[in-house]
Amino acid sequence: MNGSTVDTRVIDANLSYLPFTRPTHQAFTINYPTIPAGHPIWQVPTPALMMTPRKAVTNYQTIQRAFPDAIVGYTVKSNPNPMLLDAISRVEDSWFEVASRAEVEALHKLGVNGDRIFYSNPVKQISHIQTAVKHGVRLFAFDSESEIDKLAAFDLPLEVYVRMTVPHTGALWPLTHKFGVEPHRAVELMKLAQERGLRPVGMSFHVGSQCIRPETWADALRAVAPAWAEARSQGIDLDLIDMGGGFPAQYTGPVPKPTDVAKAVNRVLHECVPGARRLLLEPGRGVSATTTDMVLEVTGIADRPDGQTWLYLDGGVFSGLYEIPDGIRPSVRPIVSEPRPINMTTYRLAGPTCDSVDTLFEMRSPCELKVGDRLVLKNCGSYVYGVGSPFNGFPVPEVYESSEWTIDMDEFTGMC
Ligand SMILES: Cc1ncc(COP(=O)(O)O)c(C=O)c1O
Repeated sequence: MNGSTVDTRVIDANLSYLPFTRPTHQAFTINYPTIPAGHPIWQVPTPALMMTPRKAVTNYQTIQRAFPDAIVGYTVKSNPNPMLLDAISRVEDSWFEVASRAEVEALHKLGVNGDRIFYSNPVKQISHIQTAVKHGVRLFAFDSESEIDKLAAFDLPLEVYVRMTVPHTGALWPLTHKFGVEPHRAVELMKLAQERGLRPVGMSFHVGSQCIRPETWADALRAVAPAWAEARSQGIDLDLIDMGGGFPAQYTGPVPKPTDVAKAVNRVLHECVPGARRLLLEPGRGVSATTTDMVLEVTGIADRPDGQTWLYLDGGVFSGLYEIPDGIRPSVRPIVSEPRPINMTTYRLAGPTCDSVDTLFEMRSPCELKVGDRLVLKNCGSYVYGVGSPFNGFPVPEVYESSEWTIDMDEFTGMC
């Protein structure tokens, strides 16, 4: 790809030492591959999220197979689109992790009831707990006394697990500051929960999202081990360990597989949390990221005084791509319909709104781009759908099932 248009001056210079008449050269051009104007990708109204729900099933089952003894609760917040929830709900032994009333209700509409749901948001609104309890949810996370008050008020033997703080080395987003307690506090809270009629059954943690270091899960188990031992020695009968999410998605580089995480976990699991018969997982990104690609159109190009060429798109940070400024970088496939020479060109991508935070990243395109060209941003299935807002009057991306457009999104592999 780096060849670009052949520069005949360079060829001439290299041949100049040869003792024969210089050949005449004809410059030739290598074109960037086109996607013909008749291809359905050109018909999709942008900004669009092209979803392939079966990929969620494949990803989900890959995690199930890596952890055959675990209850795998798909984390609804990572992509609550009903097509995706429906696909996962049909997988044998599928469970869901929720954080709000709306997520419980969305699952209920699909026929998923509380016996396949656990509620891992450690701080909940009472009305949301009410809805969850009404739909049969009986497993709740907590990490404060006020949460014990809320849960105990239901006068039911609800099972509760305490959210722990753990190391987050290798994770792009540490999630351990906002929630979680240290070992000594965990034991105090579990005793209190027991006194208040709740059933403390275990502990949960989250190593942080997009965690590329399998050993971090093992470190987390080592971190919770003292509290686990102390609680059991005080007669609290723990049998559940919830190891959260964090399974990474492949954006621009290789990432560990669920089996790599399982290997790290299995080495220490029984030693750190003896008697943990129920192993829970809460993957979000690792299930949903690869299900969906975003299709955007180029709406403007401008050279700016900073020396950069800016490429404006009809979707950006406010279309749900809010993780990009924090480090998520989807790979991109430029889509052009007419032949254009290979010519590596750097663009700074920006969304359509007037807000300067609405800028994405720098991209090296294999050819020059024009208004009306399209970009496919790969693997935008997590924390994008449901996040977008119509700020500044720009529509949130519509979701389409790729098969309904007879488009195989794998045809568009990311290249820059
Ligand atoms: C409680 C809880 N569980 C699971 C997840 C899913 O994490 P991930 O998408 O990294 O797998 C999150 C993400 O924020 C979370 O807060």
